Amino acid sequence: MPDPRPTPVPASIDPGSVPHHVAVVMDGNGRWAQRRGLARTEGHGAGEEALLDTTYGALSIGVRVLTVYAFSTENWRRPIDEVRYLMNFNQGLLQRRQHELHDEGVRITFSGRRDWRVPKRVLRNMDEAAALTKANKVMTLNIAFNYGGRAEIVDAVQRLVAEGVAAGKVDEKAIRQRLYHPEIPDPDLVIRTSGEYRISNFLLWEMAYSELVFTEVLWPDFRREHLFEAVEEYQQRERRFGALDK
Ligand code: IPE
Ligand code: IPE
Ligand code: MG
Repeated sequence: MPDPRPTPVPASIDPGSVPHHVAVVMDGNGRWAQRRGLARTEGHGAGEEALLDTTYGALSIGVRVLTVYAFSTENWRRPIDEVRYLMNFNQGLLQRRQHELHDEGVRITFSGRRDWRVPKRVLRNMDEAAALTKANKVMTLNIAFNYGGRAEIVDAVQRLVAEGVAAGKVDEKAIRQRLYHPEIPDPDLVIRTSGEYRISNFLLWEMAYSELVFTEVLWPDFRREHLFEAVEEYQQRERRFGALDK
């Protein structure tokens, strides 16, 4: 099981420019399992260790927000047994891990739709984990669950309309304030595992200027060392935000 003890910041990482917010598309669980002749769900199970180790790695180097894509609004299209497994697995993971994460000073938050498809007991556990950890300040672990980037924008627009905001008052700030977590700054670095080169409806609004790192590593094999490699790559990039080189 992952070792929660902090790892020293590797010499290859500049401690002065660690990304504030890292977001991860945890992909490749099914392929990891299939390559071993196991059921796809075994791959999801094996992702727990990857998530914990990555979280401890992020804590070690001073990342302040780690957002992880756990279940998308499109993942309901999977076979019912896999969906059911994922609901139970995510609930179990919270129950198993919330206390150790709390001990490390991690605030657990969620991004996504709380719609009728998510079992009530899962929502209850999410609320419990969020309430337990809400005052923690070391790092935020934001779990994107029943999350879709388009759904998030639709939800923000619905709130604008419901609040009667005049068309002329709708600007980027007005939309941003109605996203699921307006207090969380945009991700600096987005990592996708498993050699897929797409966004799959993750953080569409927030990712406008994120640096993207893709790795062939399948999520269940991902460890803090892979996070550190991605951060090194991020530190080589030059972020311009549309302006010219400094
Ligand atoms: C990512 O792994 C986990 C979820 C989407 C819930 P996948 O289940 O997508 O694994 P692959 O991409 O089929 O290998
Ligand atoms: C993205 O992975 C969603 C999560 C990791 C939760 P998918 O496996 O669902 O994405 P696609 O279908 O390959 O685009
Ligand atoms: Mg996938």
